[in-house]
Amino acid sequence: MDPFFPPALQAHARRMAACALPALFAAEPNRFARFSVSCHDLLLDYSKNRLTEETLALLIDWAHAAGLEQARADLFSGVRCNWTEQRAVLHPALRHLGGQAVYLDGVDVMPGVRQQLARVEQFATQFRAGEIRAADGRPLRHLVNIGIGGSHLGPEMISQALQPYGQDGPEVRFVSNMDGADFLGAVQGLQAAETLFVLASKTFSTRETLLNTEAALRWLREGGVGVSALPHHLVAVTAAPQRAQAYGITPDRIFTIWDWVGGRYSWCSAIGLSIAVRIGYGHFAQMLAGAHAMDCHFQSAPLPVNMPVVLALLGLWSRLLEGADTLAILPYDHALRRFPAYLQQCDMESNGKRIDRDGQVVGYGTGPVLWGEVGSNAQHSFFQLLHQGTHAVAIDFIACANGHTSLHDHHQELLANFLAQSEVLMRGRSPAEVEADLRADGLSAEEILRLLPHRVFPGNRPSNTVLMPCLTPFNLGMLIALYEMKIFVQGVMWRVNSFDQWGVELGKKAAQRLLQESRRLLAGEVVDLGHHDSSTQGLLRQVIAWQKDQSKN
Ligand code: F6P
Repeated sequence: MDPFFPPALQAHARRMAACALPALFAAEPNRFARFSVSCHDLLLDYSKNRLTEETLALLIDWAHAAGLEQARADLFSGVRCNWTEQRAVLHPALRHLGGQAVYLDGVDVMPGVRQQLARVEQFATQFRAGEIRAADGRPLRHLVNIGIGGSHLGPEMISQALQPYGQDGPEVRFVSNMDGADFLGAVQGLQAAETLFVLASKTFSTRETLLNTEAALRWLREGGVGVSALPHHLVAVTAAPQRAQAYGITPDRIFTIWDWVGGRYSWCSAIGLSIAVRIGYGHFAQMLAGAHAMDCHFQSAPLPVNMPVVLALLGLWSRLLEGADTLAILPYDHALRRFPAYLQQCDMESNGKRIDRDGQVVGYGTGPVLWGEVGSNAQHSFFQLLHQGTHAVAIDFIACANGHTSLHDHHQELLANFLAQSEVLMRGRSPAEVEADLRADGLSAEEILRLLPHRVFPGNRPSNTVLMPCLTPFNLGMLIALYEMKIFVQGVMWRVNSFDQWGVELGKKAAQRLLQESRRLLAGEVVDLGHHDSSTQGLLRQVIAWQKDQSKN
């Protein structure tokens, strides 16, 4: 067993190993009521986990002993929780819209937060009203958000998820990838004279975003926008305003974020400008209110009924008991189809770490591999493995009782499938049940013998469900904050810094060097590649050879 877990919990896990979920349900008729927790309209059902009251009590004791309450208080009070970069982590302040102060080094950050939000509101409202104009007075009608990682995934996922609330708003498109196909796809069919680019980058130094910014400037010029008219088509959201100005963005078009806003937690800052344009500032403010409601719940609810805390501890429990080191996020709502991708960055960039707060290599597993897909599509791709494969996978189902379309029957069937999947994973189908089924189907004894092992479902496969009445802006804000705070809790328990991301740096530098080398090779220069391994050398030379072949044709 993993040495990370307290001995009492390990001993309990050994006892629970023989415990089957169907038996737990049979023994406890009120299991759903006991092992579910609510926050406003969000319901977390975790009864389909192999756990008991004792499990929960042991997990909560462990969280107390790990100093979770102190860590939580530190997070909300401006302590530099990002200790490798000496930064506070104050994204909860961005949705803290009452009159209260939030102090960082004795200075209230809230006036600045309110000022930027007021600017976002004004700009988004004006854009939607056709009042943001090109130099010739023509209204700008299209918005293209250029950004990557946290400056892309949240805004894109949210704009898509809340599209029913933005029917009256302009189309908003997103570009993130350095593959030029992404940029060209995003501007396809748009008129330069009517297009605004939102350049979203906390650092304004991210290669993808700068490359796409340069492409946008060229595209505007080629589309007939004169040099002096360019600033009308550009807005930046950044913590590095001077760098944005170097690209010709005027100070009045620069929205500020701060170093205490982590990129993957930045959707609720001015990085959310494109969301506010898409769905209207009122709906964006409802999202902020939802996230704030979850923050308040996280701060004040006792740990056993604290939704982010419970969800986080369940993740640790499933690691210990089931050996599950991957987490499948399965939203049964088409609007949330980008939610797994969004959460991948939020979780894996936060807790995909191996050094603890003492600077030591951890001797235990940390952040899970997070993946997922929208239901019911996922049922026809990887559910086979979930039901009958050999991997232990932690699963979060997410579902909304009501959909947004007029196709009510579709939604009913979608929900029936979500309910069926979590039940079947838990229950399985025993050899005796399968045999009876096959006999009823008229199969011979010989055929039954041959097919039976393939038709058995072992069951006893746990899952959580997050259920809500409808995917409103408020509920989506809560859902996002639920996972943000869950990730924070797990980081505390694993003793890692959830707010830095040094692991993305090395590859960026290596790419810059390889770019120079590939350009020189393409130009016919002799380049010493001896510092690369033979695989990298071989691949690079093959790329160049095929590029040269192509250019001859
Ligand atoms: O992938 C690394 C990263 O720094 C993320 O943390 C961040 O969200 C993304 O790049 C984009 O960064 P920026 O907003 O500074 O362009």
